[in-house]
Amino acid sequence: MSYIAEYQRSMNDPEGFWRNQAEKLEWFKFPQKILQQDADGVGYWFADGEMNTAHMALDYHVINGRGNQAALIFDSPVTNTKKTYTYAELTSEVARTAGMLADLGVVKGDRVIIYMPMIPEAVIAMLAVARLGAIHSVVFGGFAPPELAVRIDDATPKVILSASCGVEIKRVIEYKPLLDRAIDLATHKPESCVIYQRPQVAAPMIAGRDHDWATLLAASKAVGCTPVLGSDPLYILYTSGTTGKPKGVVRENGGHAVALKYSMKALYNVEPGDVFWASSDVGWVVGHSYIVYAPLLQGCATVVYEGKPIMTPDAGAFWRVCAEYGVKALFSAPTAFRAVKKEDPEGAFIKQYDLSKLKAIFSAGERLDTPTESWLAEVTGKPVIDHWWQTETGWGITGNLQGIECLPIKPGSSTKPMPGFNVQILDEHGERQPAGTQGYIALKLPLPPSCLNQVWGDANKFRDSYLSFLPGFYTSGDGGYIDEDGYVFVMGRVDDVINVAGHRLSTGEIEEVVAGHPDVAECAVIARDDELKGQTPMGLVVLKTGAAITEAELHKQLVARIRENIGPITCYQTTVVLARLPKTRSGKTLRKTLCNMVNGHEYTVPSTIDDTAVVPEIVETLRTKGLIS
Ligand code: COA
Ligand code: AMP
Repeated sequence: MSYIAEYQRSMNDPEGFWRNQAEKLEWFKFPQKILQQDADGVGYWFADGEMNTAHMALDYHVINGRGNQAALIFDSPVTNTKKTYTYAELTSEVARTAGMLADLGVVKGDRVIIYMPMIPEAVIAMLAVARLGAIHSVVFGGFAPPELAVRIDDATPKVILSASCGVEIKRVIEYKPLLDRAIDLATHKPESCVIYQRPQVAAPMIAGRDHDWATLLAASKAVGCTPVLGSDPLYILYTSGTTGKPKGVVRENGGHAVALKYSMKALYNVEPGDVFWASSDVGWVVGHSYIVYAPLLQGCATVVYEGKPIMTPDAGAFWRVCAEYGVKALFSAPTAFRAVKKEDPEGAFIKQYDLSKLKAIFSAGERLDTPTESWLAEVTGKPVIDHWWQTETGWGITGNLQGIECLPIKPGSSTKPMPGFNVQILDEHGERQPAGTQGYIALKLPLPPSCLNQVWGDANKFRDSYLSFLPGFYTSGDGGYIDEDGYVFVMGRVDDVINVAGHRLSTGEIEEVVAGHPDVAECAVIARDDELKGQTPMGLVVLKTGAAITEAELHKQLVARIRENIGPITCYQTTVVLARLPKTRSGKTLRKTLCNMVNGHEYTVPSTIDDTAVVPEIVETLRTKGLIS
């Protein structure tokens, strides 16, 4: 099969193409309606099929002879723990955990927030919620209480599942005080919290509301899978947008299972029984799709890794895990590979391990820079496959189909559109751009299975945020171009989203925190290029008249505020005090000009600028501080 034949079939006969893929899963009732579209062209996939994602991912494999095969491999260098669950064991744990949640009153459609570190119980919790037909919303552990509180108020969970702590490289992070504070801040109060007590920290419990996980689990009975419709939500995952408030991306059960199962063979070229490792966190979309659901839907073993690419204990960590478990496909973010490259530029650690089972390395989450890509390919001798996707799609939009046809790799490109995605480059008037010309990367409707078609709790937000700018298309928020061979080059966000170590953050949200400082009159937060993390946020600040604070003291206080309000993963690193910000005559801050200036890129000063003298003023300030040459 060639890439082009596969892709064209998905375009010419989408219903036939995705019906065939859906047939590879075990439904309780196979969908009669494969695709429905509304007047705007928004697609609804497999809406009337009856199913349960946990059944497809677990029980199905046990019934079909995979009970004794490894399903989940837990490896935690930070706690010196290793544990493997077979499909039978994982299914049994999930069924009992679902029983525990049912005892707390969780039923189909209820929301359950999961705020946990990278331990098997986090995965078990997600699958247990899915088993009941309830909706999980996992919140990344690196988010601070106010961020968790916003998600609690939006998702209104009946139950929150958490753990006593997470273990980072240099410290143990107590989760329970963060959870308590978030619940204090939130208007909505969950009926119950269930806390998994880890040996490193015993969390204090609030009587009546909090329950000990192990005690409840010991008293619970296994429950079966609740049938849901293909259109019923499996989860809500919050992601940063252009406004301060995160958007709750809703993932439907049917399309999600079908697209993810398809991607495992087509893109990653893994078969049932293979070991697959996505070294992300269950708090991000990569973790949802490729640590939890896709590998299990495919009957693979998935690795759950509580550690980092470096320092746990060294830059050989990834290669050690790959060798120890016979990983066939490794998936991580460019930041992780850059960290390894920095510590081990010659690839000395790689030589210590037998990586013969590793067939390909996949990268996503941020732009894969060419030096890192070539280094990784050279030191490992493996194909390095970049692929581009978003929380909103749940799987790759562009990629190089390793299970269909391996196309030549072009550095800087995430190759070609995945089947089902009609990727086009448009200008702001919706005009298609010629090969090689940059523009907005837009996806023609309908989107393929797994992509969002609603934002939780806001009937208009999906259309307003994604569809209104270029009618008939989903606006990805990324800019880039397609070359004459059809290869897609994603160059970066064209909105206020920034990508710090593969973590998606909103500069608008960071700005709100900076602007909240009592000495700050106004500010602009922009992305500064960073050798390791891709980008880090930088604050350009104008002080209130009479404010006596020094730049260094202000920076210290802003770092603390941002850590407390958004979380340590923000990695806020630079504050520059300016006399004034460049603005248009209508008062809009020229963030793009500032961003280009700070990063030493070419910049244009729009004719609408209020006062041209401000630009040389800022350049001088940045030069004096050694931020630009
Ligand atoms: N819970 C609580 N805190 C967390 C956390 C979690 N789950 N994850 C990260 N943090 C904290 C870290 O402890 C750190 O805090 P500190 O500033 O007090 O030290 C901060 O958030 C930043 O963490 P991180 O971005 O991981 O930076 P680092 O310097 O500790 O490690 C790397 C650097 C390169 C090793 C790390 O960024 C990395 O592994 N990146 C790859 C990330 C990735 O896979 N992203 C893809 C998501 S799809
Ligand atoms: P998230 O929703 O957190 O997965 O972040 C999605 C964003 O990350 C995209 O809109 C891109 O800006 C960026 N991104 C993800 N993968 C890639 C990639 N392979 N190349 C370039 N940018 C990427």
